[in-house]
Amino acid sequence: MRTLASVEDVRKVISGWRLVGERIAFVPTMGDLHPGHLQLVRHALTRAPHVVASIFVNPTQFGPGEDFDAYPRTLESDQEKLQREGAQLLFAPAVETLYPGGTGDTTHVGVPQVSRGLCDDFRPGHFAGVATVVARLFNLVQPDIAVFGEKDYQQLAVIRRMVRDLCWPIEIDGVPTVREADGLAMSSRNRYLSADERKLAPVLYQTLCEVVEQVRAQQQSCRTLERQAMEKLEQAGFSPEYVSIRHAQTLQPVETGEMPARVLAAVRLGKARLIDNVSL
Ligand code: PAJ
Repeated sequence: MRTLASVEDVRKVISGWRLVGERIAFVPTMGDLHPGHLQLVRHALTRAPHVVASIFVNPTQFGPGEDFDAYPRTLESDQEKLQREGAQLLFAPAVETLYPGGTGDTTHVGVPQVSRGLCDDFRPGHFAGVATVVARLFNLVQPDIAVFGEKDYQQLAVIRRMVRDLCWPIEIDGVPTVREADGLAMSSRNRYLSADERKLAPVLYQTLCEVVEQVRAQQQSCRTLERQAMEKLEQAGFSPEYVSIRHAQTLQPVETGEMPARVLAAVRLGKARLIDNVSL
């Protein structure tokens, strides 16, 4: 596997593959790769003969006071993992490469509707940062397929909407969340948890699974179930940001759990912010 940092080098390799009509699948990441990320690479390999991964800790999707500086940067071990999985190319650019005009007053992509509410209420501007960097990466890598995790469900919806609105000929594949044995969704941010917090963390997934059962039982309104789940999480020791039952595509609130729906949540636990979601 080759690791490239410059736009020119990446374009050269990509255009060689394109010239002979070979498809490219792309897996964008911020590195610190765990089995969840590697599952995306494995999926990508089933979709195209060439798999490109990227590692870039994107400054524009972190808010003031968030963990941009602390975010784990583990390039060497990430390279080994990607090589082992069979990715052909790793694009690991510097900030100036993706933001030649700086990160402040720069051209950005704003995605309507699905960007609003849920995580946006707690991380304003986050999805504009995500859409902006993914748009730049798509322009450079020109993939036929791009693979994202359902773990970041609102992000997946934002990317799908952006690709549709901008008429990009890119298929977006969503891959189910990879979990630890006790149900906790794998995440680079789990390493911020203390031993006691790590023991408590799977209660988030358990609570979401209970909400699914309760929606199916149809005895209480969705709003009541959301409120009860928030209370349960708070009593367990989390600081919940939201628990919300939404339409799986539009992310609009649903009243009765009509299909297809999704239960989404974000909580704070110690230094970590955890997000998770389950299908109804
Ligand atoms: P990052 O958090 O590194 O995640 C990269 C990709 O891995 C995302 O599509 C995410 O949904 C997926 N992923 C993370 N944990 C997962 C899990 N447990 N199971 C399945 N997939 C999982 O998401 C980002 O980076 C950035 O916002 C990015 C899209 C790269 C733009 O900067």
